[in-house]
Parts: sequence; C-alpha cells; structure tokens
Amino acid sequence: MSLLAPSILAADFNRLGENIKILEKSGIKLLHIDVMDGMFVPSISFGMPLITSIRKETALFFDVHLMIEKPERYIKNFCESGANSLLIHYEACKDLKNNLLRIRDYGMEAGIVINPESSVADIEEYLEFADRVLVMTVHPGFGGQLMIEKELSKVRELKRLRQEHGYDYIIEIDGGVTKDNINVAVECGTDVIVAGTAVFSGDIEKNVFVLKEKCEK
Ligand code: DX5
Ligand code: ZN
Repeated sequence: MSLLAPSILAADFNRLGENIKILEKSGIKLLHIDVMDGMFVPSISFGMPLITSIRKETALFFDVHLMIEKPERYIKNFCESGANSLLIHYEACKDLKNNLLRIRDYGMEAGIVINPESSVADIEEYLEFADRVLVMTVHPGFGGQLMIEKELSKVRELKRLRQEHGYDYIIEIDGGVTKDNINVAVECGTDVIVAGTAVFSGDIEKNVFVLKEKCEK
C-alpha cells in the first residue's frame, strides 16, 4: 500500500487552482512541489510566492522538494509559505544534520533526497534525523523522464535500515513513474510515490483513479 503524491511541476499552471481541486476530489492527500533554482539543476521552476498562493485554497500536505543549492538559506521562508515538509538534497548542502534539525525546529518534517549517483551508505549517519527519505529514480531537473528502475533497490535498503534501527522515516520515490511501472514501486514497499506526467497528462481524474488503485493493492 503506497500513497500517490502528484507533482505539480507537470500541472497546467494556467489552471493550477482547478487542477488542485480535482486532485482533492479524487482523494489525494499530499502534493509534491518541486522548487528548482537553475544552479543545482539546470531548470528553474517556481518558489515561495506560488506556494503561498496555493496554500490559501487547500489544506493538502505540501511536500516541498528543494532542488536548490544551499537550501538552508530558505528554510524559514518555505515554512512561512505553508510547506509541511522540506526535502533537501544530500548533494546540495554542507551541514545536512544541522539543516534537518533546523527544518524540524520550524515544525516541518525534514527530508533527505538522494540522486542516482549517491548511495544509501552516504546518508546512513543522517537517517536518525530524517522524517522522510526521497530516492530519485531519475536525474533531477525535469519531468517526463524514464525511470531508472535499479534505484528501487535503495528503497529496500532503506526499509531494512529502518527496521534494524527502529527509525520511522517515510520512504518516497520520485521520477518516471507511469501506470505501467508503478506496480514495481508499490511491490518493493515505497510509502509515497511521486508522479507528475502520469497524473497531469490527459484526464487528471481518470489518471489518479488508475494510479491510486494500483497504489492501494
Ligand atoms: C524531477 C522532479 C520530479 C518530477 C517528476 O526533477 O523532482 O518531482 O516532477 O515528474 P515525472 O513524474 O514526470 O517524472
Ligand atoms: Zn520532485
């Protein structure tokens, strides 16, 4: 059983509010929000003002994925915009532990993200400070890429470590999820499955119905 988290990066920004209402009606509980700075990743998406604006209209959980350098500069700002969790890249900050603790201090859930080139061993010492761990199943920066399925082995590893040490972080994957490969992610025990293109291209309600059904198996 997994939870589906639509990534609004793939939404129609001209109709963002309407798109979010459709998601709420379809039983979605968590929105994945991709912030890109054009430095940590090549592209630029959106930032605090957009989050502040959609926060006014919805009580959904905002899972905010920061693909930015030195994310510690903006912890307070994202908290004030209405983020419920902040997911920061292992590759993007010098003092990961301190940043995770600061995120928690602001009352948000603290998440670690790893790119395909980083291993679970790289972040093992920080797992006790994490409420969420996000495994990238594509190289971050763009929606609509193909999933690198071998990255799912990190989900199994994270589950094993969670059990071994009695941690309680939520395990997420992000990138390249489709109706055809979502089963594999559900079967390996992913708690939260992020999907952009698969949710927003075509009929959102129908897509959510199909993907959610597969998540709930
Ligand atoms: C990729 C982002 C993803 C992206 C997923 O850099 O972190 O959250 O929006 O999009 P899809 O599901 O289209 O791969
Ligand atoms: Zn993301």
